[in-house]
Amino acid sequence: MRVHEKRLDIEKDVADLHKQNKTIGFVPTMGALHDGHLALVQRAINQNQVVVVSIFVNPNQFNNSEDLVNYPRTLDADIKLLSKLSKDIIVFAPGDPIEVYGNNLDSISYDFEGLENEMEGKFRPGHFDGVGTVLKHFFTIVSPTRAYFGEKDFQQLQIVKKLVEIEKMSVEIVGCPIYREESGLALSSRNKRLNKTQLQEAPLIYKTLQQVKNDFGTKSVLSLTAWISKQFEANETLELEYFQIAKISDLKSIQRKQKNTKYRAFIAVFAGEVRLIDNIALN
Ligand code: PAJ
Repeated sequence: MRVHEKRLDIEKDVADLHKQNKTIGFVPTMGALHDGHLALVQRAINQNQVVVVSIFVNPNQFNNSEDLVNYPRTLDADIKLLSKLSKDIIVFAPGDPIEVYGNNLDSISYDFEGLENEMEGKFRPGHFDGVGTVLKHFFTIVSPTRAYFGEKDFQQLQIVKKLVEIEKMSVEIVGCPIYREESGLALSSRNKRLNKTQLQEAPLIYKTLQQVKNDFGTKSVLSLTAWISKQFEANETLELEYFQIAKISDLKSIQRKQKNTKYRAFIAVFAGEVRLIDNIALN
């Protein structure tokens, strides 16, 4: 297991791998690793000769300073979990944002053709500029063959595909399914911050999404949206921030279904201070 804190060290390591023509699978994370992250890493191990995992809580993508301060940081435990999967994983855990950003800590202002203005973009201003900028830096440093992203953050996945188009980067973006608890709750580093009651109630998020999927063929978008609102109004622990059914191509919210179009339902919910997101394919 090689753990690099310095940009120069990981760049040297990666340059050697490229000289040997090795394929590199890259899994960017913010740490506090769980089985959802590890499933991405396992997929990267299966498909590449070498795997690089970055662990970096990227300040530029947090629009809420409290969320940034409270984001769990568990580097030693993360490294242990990764070494159980393979001793050959290379970890890049920058000790300081300068190691990623160089001297310009600003975010680039991206035009992701409107994808950045929907849902998470609307409720977390600047979030996707932060994500796009940090990934542009990481892709430059690691120059991976493939990079792995979870459908848990489906909007992020679509935006990353657009990012590599815009930046003309040659990395292949691989989307991976959402990993869930037995209760249906999507695994998330933020789940570590839920208290007992919140943890008991949070599975309602996926339960309602499944119901929406079941009813999507027979009920209108309007009635499904109203039904979701009612479920969360009746729940004292969870507060709905948004629910929307959107086309997967442009992530725009729809009122009416069209033929031959793929849709997903997206949701963001607060459990106290903790913000949880989830989504489901509808057809
Ligand atoms: P983070 O939230 O740590 O997630 C890292 C990767 O793990 C993302 O691609 C995310 O979609 C995936 N992931 C998280 N929970 C998952 C689950 N339950 N099932 C499947 N995949 C899951 O996303 C980020 O970090 C950051 O925005 C990052 C891309 C690292 C840029 O800073």
